[in-house]
Amino acid sequence: QATLHELATAQGKYFGSATDNPELPDAAYAAVLGSEFGQITPGNSMKWDTTEPAQGQFNFAKGDAITDFAQQHGQTVRGHTLVWHSQLPGWVGALPPAQVEAAMTNHVTEEATHYRGAVSAWDVVNEPFNEDGTFRTSPFYTAMGSDYIAKALRAAHAADPEAKLYVNDYNIEGLGAKSDAMYALVSELLAEGVPLDGVGMQAHLAVQYGFPYQMQANMQRFADLGLDVAVTELDVRMQLPADSAKTATQSSYYRQVTEACLAVERCVGITVWDYTDKYSWVPSTFPGQGAANLYDENLLPKPAYSAVRTAL
Ligand code: XIL
Repeated sequence: QATLHELATAQGKYFGSATDNPELPDAAYAAVLGSEFGQITPGNSMKWDTTEPAQGQFNFAKGDAITDFAQQHGQTVRGHTLVWHSQLPGWVGALPPAQVEAAMTNHVTEEATHYRGAVSAWDVVNEPFNEDGTFRTSPFYTAMGSDYIAKALRAAHAADPEAKLYVNDYNIEGLGAKSDAMYALVSELLAEGVPLDGVGMQAHLAVQYGFPYQMQANMQRFADLGLDVAVTELDVRMQLPADSAKTATQSSYYRQVTEACLAVERCVGITVWDYTDKYSWVPSTFPGQGAANLYDENLLPKPAYSAVRTAL
């Protein structure tokens, strides 16, 4: 039968998955990753704490293993992520604010240059907003105010003019204060001529929180600005134990995200935040929750997988 990516491709989209270096030696896992999905995102290996753990000392070995896998399997790679407040090595926050811009520019330049040709899209800036739509505090915001976002995008574009450049965040899937803030930000960036190609909606959903309010309309308003939209980190967690009602709700959320993306021409594709419960980030991050992915811990497809297939 056709793969998720083949079904998506027939609709002009891609279907991808996050992955991580420790998972690749799992042959059964890698076989599905390499066949079912047409795009991969490194879950951790391109983050600042991995790629520049000490100032000026770059290490791209883990990220390179991901781009190698992609190349071997004919997949595109979403680079994740260049500028983020989290998984940021301590030395960045310890810099005098006057030195942060140069460190950021250097980091973006070195990493985006290294992955030229291997990474087709970058989450240049990740999670710039608080839940109420104000800018999140970080060493970058402290040093440069919200200008750090434009500066990071310009540096990424200079380093790799071919890569599609995104700002990525969570809880911006539906209409609301946080997505309004993202809308205002990207509108201003475009008005200023800052290189920006798209908005990434992480889509870490939870059965108990309801489906994002008017996701399709929200995607469409970003598309109407001339931007691409990507669903970058989809998963749908639930309070454990799973039961048939929660599983049905989860399937419906996966289906609705897929339908929203298909209905919006500028929605370029969907990436799940790994495809199996075996390697989900959820149980360790949200105690008591899990079962968030398309395949179970034995790599068997769940009802959500069928729901996505049917929607595609
Ligand atoms: C997560 C990874 O999956 C975990 O392995 C890691 O311990 C923490 O980060 N939003 C993001 C991702 O943009 O980078 C996060 O990834 C999940 C939430």
